[in-house]
Amino acid sequence: MKLWSGRFGKDTDALVNELNASIGFDQRLYREDITGSLAHAKMLGDCGVIPKEDVAAITEGLLGILEDIEAGKVEFSAENEDIHMNIESLLTARVGDAGKRLHTARSRNDQVALDFRMYVREQIPVIVGQLLELERVLCRQAKQHQTAVMPGYTHLQRAQPISFAQHLCAYAAMFRRDVTRLEDCARRLNECPLGSGALAGTTYPIDRWQTAKELGFDGPMGNSLDGVSDRDYALELLSGLSILMMHLSRFAEEVILWCSWEFKFVELDDAYATGSSIMPQKKNPDVAELVRGKTGRVYGDLMGLLTVMKGLPLAYNKDMQEDKEPVFDAIDTVEMCVPVFAAMIDTMTVLPDNMRKAAGKGFINATDCADYLTKKGMPFRDAYTTVGHLVAACTQQGKTLEELTLEELKAVSDLFEADVYDALNLENCMALRASYGGPAAAETTRQIGAIEQFIQQRDKR
Ligand code: ARG
Repeated sequence: MKLWSGRFGKDTDALVNELNASIGFDQRLYREDITGSLAHAKMLGDCGVIPKEDVAAITEGLLGILEDIEAGKVEFSAENEDIHMNIESLLTARVGDAGKRLHTARSRNDQVALDFRMYVREQIPVIVGQLLELERVLCRQAKQHQTAVMPGYTHLQRAQPISFAQHLCAYAAMFRRDVTRLEDCARRLNECPLGSGALAGTTYPIDRWQTAKELGFDGPMGNSLDGVSDRDYALELLSGLSILMMHLSRFAEEVILWCSWEFKFVELDDAYATGSSIMPQKKNPDVAELVRGKTGRVYGDLMGLLTVMKGLPLAYNKDMQEDKEPVFDAIDTVEMCVPVFAAMIDTMTVLPDNMRKAAGKGFINATDCADYLTKKGMPFRDAYTTVGHLVAACTQQGKTLEELTLEELKAVSDLFEADVYDALNLENCMALRASYGGPAAAETTRQIGAIEQFIQQRDKR
């Protein structure tokens, strides 16, 4: 019999039961649900709403249920719809009337708002920890490749010389923002909805500060309607995770390019690559491809929940039961992708010689050539045009800029002297890009140091 069967004259249709039940996925919240109930019962006892003996019975009963669930001894029933009613009916079966008093001054809307919020709050440090591990990997790889030249790209066309370290530090900067976005979400969500009641609070003399404190919140949410109907924290999490996946997906795309024969900038470790069923030579970057692909899922999770929440009148609506699966899916996806991605980057072999070879073609020192003339007094725009002509001539002759003779160079401008060859040397071109945030080794050292400091600050917490 349903907990709420009092006003009904018939059993629920079986299909309705199936549609209505969320126990299939919200059983994941059993621990949060029990934690919330323990705090609620204690507060009810302390405020004189229910007898202390009942609090003791409820507490013992709930702890027993927790133990049994963790031991795999509990079978949840769809008849009881969701995790909240499942646990309440288990409790009543075990401790009788005391169990029936637990729901005094509380509603399921309260419970789900609390449980889900606590679940999101617990998962954030897990993901942050994984991101910090990825940052450590990036720092380690970056430190080893600070001086070797790699072509930097715009439009996927060779553009200017950078180092592999500089490239990795760019991703480290993105993941660092992802960490702080998740930390922001955790800070903002830390208000307790419990005690909002169904929507309009309660006539019982409850102490919302007590339960908020007991459950590790900064305080109770200030409006009971908002308390039961706010899912912003879930959306903020999904937004943060979508942006994080977007970053991973860009990185994945580059790894896929880098291990193609066309680039061959890296070689993946055999443990992080897969083969083909027909082509014996193949070594495929499936990890990177799957991470790129799963980004779509996480975006879908965000779009799904945004759409569920759109236009919902206050306060709770059953539509909101659809909040959990996308959040669980996004969390599971991210928690699967980040560590395997980190391990793939950690174990890949970097091939700096191939990067250097690629850097030699494509005129990535053309800007430096124009800068050379500019520093000798030619206005930059004229220098730009002059070098443009040189590049066109080189392209026709199949030469690089540094392969032109001084006479050939002087033919377009007599500002060219023998020192131009130093200016065109790719190692110099990179080393001289020492502006703040640039690829020069001193600058990548600074960038790596800043990331390491960021990690350390969080390790200490
Ligand atoms: N299973 C519901 C959910 O996940 C819990 C809240 C139900 N509240 C209600 N009034 N039916 O949203």
